[in-house]
Amino acid sequence: MRFPEGFTWGVSTSSYQIEGAVKEGGRGTSIWDTFTQQGGRATGDEACDHYHRYAEDVGLMADLGIDAYRFSVSWPRIQPEGKGPASSVNQEGVAFYDRLVDALLERGIDPVLTLFHWDLPQALEDQGGWLNRDTAHRFAEYADLVGAALGDRVKLWITLNEPFIHMTLGYATGEHAPGHALLFGALPAAHHQLLGHGLAVQALRARTTSPITIANNYSPAWPQGGTDADLAAAATYHALHNRMFTDPLLGRGYPKLAYEAIDLRDGDLDVIASPIDFLGVNYYNPTGVQAPLPGAPLPFDLVALDGYPTTDFGWPVVPDGLRDLLVGLLTDYGDALPPIYITESGCAYEGVEDPQRVAYLDGHIAAVNAAMTAGVDVRGYFVWSLLDNFEWAEGYTKRFGLVHVDFDTQVRTPKTSFAWYRDLIRASR
Ligand code: FCB
Repeated sequence: MRFPEGFTWGVSTSSYQIEGAVKEGGRGTSIWDTFTQQGGRATGDEACDHYHRYAEDVGLMADLGIDAYRFSVSWPRIQPEGKGPASSVNQEGVAFYDRLVDALLERGIDPVLTLFHWDLPQALEDQGGWLNRDTAHRFAEYADLVGAALGDRVKLWITLNEPFIHMTLGYATGEHAPGHALLFGALPAAHHQLLGHGLAVQALRARTTSPITIANNYSPAWPQGGTDADLAAAATYHALHNRMFTDPLLGRGYPKLAYEAIDLRDGDLDVIASPIDFLGVNYYNPTGVQAPLPGAPLPFDLVALDGYPTTDFGWPVVPDGLRDLLVGLLTDYGDALPPIYITESGCAYEGVEDPQRVAYLDGHIAAVNAAMTAGVDVRGYFVWSLLDNFEWAEGYTKRFGLVHVDFDTQVRTPKTSFAWYRDLIRASR
């Protein structure tokens, strides 16, 4: 496999999943703190203790030889109440990311910063969270503050992580914080996140010359069953999961199903379509879709894809799905499609010896390569994740890291896949 010179190899993490130290450094409460205090759930209170161990973790990244590190900023570390003027910014929170960014730059690693990876300040949730249009404006103010602090050193900005997953699990099914189960009543949370994205792009442009993107979750909708109703159900699911978060960004407005559910105001679509420099693609697997049974609450039925190996999460391993997805984006959006970064790709498997993860990454990197050969402009690949970490609703039971973490002792042990990825990066130079 050949990758062009300058192709970026990286790893990704997020704040609530690794930082711990939830009550330190002046950090406010996030919706994940509140959510995990309920019902005996695992919490991110300690997680990987990265807040204290970031220097060791940057050392691991340097050993790995990555070009770039994607992390997220915890909004309640910067604005404990989710709002307020620059004078009320929590300077201790800013100082943490300042140290992290400088440590990365010292080791020659490009900082790639995600502004929102799901840990909304609880104070904003108390006012409706992303169901409240005002949150989009609060997000733009927060983006401006982080841009002012780090705009000179961050090499790539990512506004939101996976607004589809956050809307769906956080607001439609209630499996994630903030735990609302509103089904299609969750759609305003998509519109307000996308509006927040566009406003944040505009705010960041005034603070930085670095490129800006968003990290979307993409899943090809594969009809299972060949009836017209199955095909229609797959098209509906595709509109909801993929097109809803891509069409408006690239100036095409929303797919039809969105309009009845959201309060679209004059100018919103222009804000959402504020030009971005890249598109971030997070890919794990395709989704099997069938027609719903009569009387079902949703216009599609999600079903397992048979005939594929599965990860410890039960997710099917389908590298070709990534190639098809990338080629499909190019087919659907043509010249309007910006160059792509794969901002997450990875799998859950147990063990420090993890040949399945090596095979998974090898297959998915080959799929990216195949898409590039077919004409898709892909600029980089980020493995989810550097460390085993707090995997949301699954707590600590699903391990995605290239580095094993013993959550009792916080000892880090690089896995077989770590050495494999390091060698792949070296060989590609
Ligand atoms: C993605 C999330 C990331 C991680 C992986 C496994 O949807 O962005 O935080 O949990 O799934």
